[in-house]
Amino acid sequence: MIGSNYSSSFSFFLRTIVLLLFSISNVFSTFASLTPDLCHPDQRDVLLQLKTEFKIQKPNELDDYWTMDVPSYPKTESWENSSTDCCNWDGITCDTESGKVIGLDLSCSCLHGQLQPNSSLFRLKHLTSLNLAYNNFSLSPIPDKFNNLMLLETLNLSVSSLKGHIPREILQLTNLVSLDLSSHYSPDTSLLLSIENPPLFLHQLAQNLRNLRALDMSYVNISSEIPHEFSYMLSLRSLQLERCFLVGEFPSGVFMIQNLQSIILDQNPDLRGSLPVFRRNNSMQVLSLWETSFSGIIPDSIANLKHLASLTLAYSNFSGRIPSSLGELSNLSSLSLSSNHFTGEVPSSIGNLKQLISFNFGGNQLTGSFPSALLNLTKLRFIFLGYNQFTGSLPPNIGQLSKLEGLYASGNSFTGAVPSSLLQISSLTELDLDDYQLSDLVGFENVSLLSNLKNLYFKSNDFRVSSPVDLNVFSSLKQLVELDLPGIPLSTANITSDSDFSSNLEYLNLPGCNITEFPEFLRDQRNLKYLYLSNNNIKGQVPDWLWRLQELQDLDLSHNSLSGFDGSLKDVPGSHIEILDLRSNAFQGRIFIPSTSITYLFASSNNFTGEIPRSLCGGQSSPTIIDLSDNNFHGSIPQCLGAHMSSLTDLNLRNNSLSGSIPDMFTQASKLRSIDVSHNQLEGKIPASLTACSALEVLNVESNEINDTFPFQLSSLQKLQVLVLRSNKFHGVLYQSDGAWFGFPQLKIIDVSNNHFLGTLPSDYFLNWTAISSNEDKSTLPHYIGVSRYNNSIVLMNKGVLMVMERILTVYTAIDFSGNKIQGQVPESIGLLKELHALNLSRNAFTGHIPLSLSNITALESLDLSQNKLCGEIPPKLGDLSSLEWINVSYNQLVGSIPQGTQFQRQTCSSYEGNPGLFGPSLKDICRETTSPGSEPPVSSEEEEEEEEGSFSWVAAGLGFAPGVVFGFTIGYIMKNLGRNKH
Ligand SMILES: *[C@@H]1O[C@H](CO)[C@@H](O)[C@H](O)[C@H]1NC(C)=O
Ligand SMILES: *[C@@H]1O[C@H](CO)[C@@H](O)[C@H](O)[C@H]1NC(C)=O
Repeated sequence: MIGSNYSSSFSFFLRTIVLLLFSISNVFSTFASLTPDLCHPDQRDVLLQLKTEFKIQKPNELDDYWTMDVPSYPKTESWENSSTDCCNWDGITCDTESGKVIGLDLSCSCLHGQLQPNSSLFRLKHLTSLNLAYNNFSLSPIPDKFNNLMLLETLNLSVSSLKGHIPREILQLTNLVSLDLSSHYSPDTSLLLSIENPPLFLHQLAQNLRNLRALDMSYVNISSEIPHEFSYMLSLRSLQLERCFLVGEFPSGVFMIQNLQSIILDQNPDLRGSLPVFRRNNSMQVLSLWETSFSGIIPDSIANLKHLASLTLAYSNFSGRIPSSLGELSNLSSLSLSSNHFTGEVPSSIGNLKQLISFNFGGNQLTGSFPSALLNLTKLRFIFLGYNQFTGSLPPNIGQLSKLEGLYASGNSFTGAVPSSLLQISSLTELDLDDYQLSDLVGFENVSLLSNLKNLYFKSNDFRVSSPVDLNVFSSLKQLVELDLPGIPLSTANITSDSDFSSNLEYLNLPGCNITEFPEFLRDQRNLKYLYLSNNNIKGQVPDWLWRLQELQDLDLSHNSLSGFDGSLKDVPGSHIEILDLRSNAFQGRIFIPSTSITYLFASSNNFTGEIPRSLCGGQSSPTIIDLSDNNFHGSIPQCLGAHMSSLTDLNLRNNSLSGSIPDMFTQASKLRSIDVSHNQLEGKIPASLTACSALEVLNVESNEINDTFPFQLSSLQKLQVLVLRSNKFHGVLYQSDGAWFGFPQLKIIDVSNNHFLGTLPSDYFLNWTAISSNEDKSTLPHYIGVSRYNNSIVLMNKGVLMVMERILTVYTAIDFSGNKIQGQVPESIGLLKELHALNLSRNAFTGHIPLSLSNITALESLDLSQNKLCGEIPPKLGDLSSLEWINVSYNQLVGSIPQGTQFQRQTCSSYEGNPGLFGPSLKDICRETTSPGSEPPVSSEEEEEEEEGSFSWVAAGLGFAPGVVFGFTIGYIMKNLGRNKH
């Protein structure tokens, strides 16, 4: 019984399963009979074929940066050749009656590989909707087979790594309602989609795609005008053409399309246009013209855009007053007019924009006081007023804006105290009050009440300090990420080991804050990335815990009084410092390089000794800028740097005690922009591999012991602008006797003075010195050779004095051949150098007359021909050179009258002495005294010339770009530098 019992229960069990199975298949067949098997086998096979055409690859940061943010998963992976209905597959939509596949959505599906013209995709002829966005089609072109899919209404190929011309066949898809070919930013325009014959393409687009409601071609390289036919695309609701390199005048009729809800033309800096008179009947909700050349006023009729929610006219050329009618846009939530030329006051009608969340009027020329109408707008979260001419104080009741998250008021002339109600807006996370003219810092500590504050920017150079601000108060801001207090005197005295600063701190900018000790609380700042403590009075040693802050990338300790490094000088595993700035401290002994990731090393103006650390050669990343100038490094230049030259842009070893020869290590140095090894004891020759430095702009080997001939081999360097060989043992001739082209197409400054060059110069010598013959740089702002954090400086003889250019003006030109043994005539072709500012041929053996052609050099400011054997008269026409401020022709054999021009009359007599035959009406008496017969030329040396400090003020003025400040700074610098380094 037990057994039968068992068997019956087992059979029951089986029956149940069978029943169950049966009922399942029954349910299934019932279901199937209700909605018959939809998937056509042929359609299924096409889809399965399509699946095999691509690899599945998850987006990675390197190749698919723009896809990273979008959640992707491989939709086709679930497509299986089983009995399941392909109409139920992920991404597939079928027509309920015919069962044909009409919708294919494979967006964000990790597809990887070329989209081929023979793809099975083009056999899905019934498709009305196709979305392939956010895949990686490996930069294949868009196939020209889209006219196989004539029923398409929606086509989305955006952000899918397609490149090349957009095929014209797409314009045959006359049913299209929505077309999205947009992409993303790429610095390499050749990776963007583009259009062949854009005017025709756009014309046909407007003609053919009459049903189009949404068109997005952002980041397609269109490079053309938008034809006026676009004004007749009457179905259009959304037009998005961001960064399409559009040019010409945008047809204003497009703005008038009645159904148009959204138009975005951002980042087309060459696209001109203006806003039309808007009609009442419109649907506009979003109007964005960010970074275009649109100009003109905002018309009063802007009030007719009743549905407008977002208006962006930023970074364009709009001007005039802000119309009061703007206040009628009652749906507006975002308003940006920043960085235009708007003037006048902010109209009080903006107080009616009750929906406004973001208000951005920064970077205009707006005047008046803080627009108090804003205080009515209780939804406001962001106020940008920066860089205008607002005055007065912030309103005391600004605290009414209880939702405010960001207030940006820098670059104005706000005065008074920071209102205490502002410090009660608990939602405030960003406060930018740079340039706020506080009457005093009293009460500033109260910003510590803003417990949600993430970013605080406050800079003021213009207040009377009663006492420094206690840095410890910021320890109560637990959300703080960025703290920027340049120039605010700070006290670190109250910070104790219990002070609990925000652990979120990433950016700390405290230059010029009178800090005297290394802020100890930084020890625990695990997230700190950027630390700037320059221009304080920090003394002593750099603490070794600093190198254990593993996130720290950029460290600026320059212009302090630091003298060394605490702890052992071993590199600290985990330090990732990339930018290290130790300039102008009192460091002694060996330099410490904390990380193997250093790309920028600035260590100039210290007293570092020892050898240049070889660890610079063997890093994880290759250095970009190495500046060890003005120290006392010994030994040779490490040859091993050669292996890491491929990313090096600037190498500055100036003014050390380096010896040996310059290693021949430049074969990889294709990015090298400047080399300065001046003021060392380097010997040997100019290395041959320098010819590989195709990017070289500055080569300075001044004051070494290089014994070589003139480096004609460098003459092909297309970018070399500055060549300084001064005070070495160069010898031989300065031109190639076979008459070859001199070369150096960009050369603007050449100084070969104080060497042993000899020979004569042919009369056409200066033919083709193109960069000095004409000035292509017509901009009115000064430009300098260098990059933002690093400028090349140079010492040049100008107007009889050595001067430092802390930064080299790209327009400055100079030729200095002085102190050699060059003979023969001064080449007549010198007159071709119309843009030459300074010419120094003194202390040579030039003979013959002063060339008349010199009078063509209208830019000439400084002319030194002294101590040669020139004879004849000074050409009277030189008197017409109105820029010429400094002249020296002393110790020649010149005769006759000094030219009458005021510039000549203004010189001192020493400019003419030693020319017994020279006379002049007005200088006659003085000159007779100084040119007493038998006087000897002075023993000229650079040291002596340095002492003529008196001339500096007008030296600077003569350069025309008011670089007075620059030179003002540099005078002390030059004396210190050159004085320290007498070998
Ligand atoms: C499409 O053509 C390529 C060659 O251009 C070929 O390798 C590939 O197999 C073809 N694919 C199909 C689906 O026919
Ligand atoms: C330059 O080197 C050569 C030998 O190569 C030597 O004869 C000459 O004296 C050197 N010149 C100077 C100025 O030292």
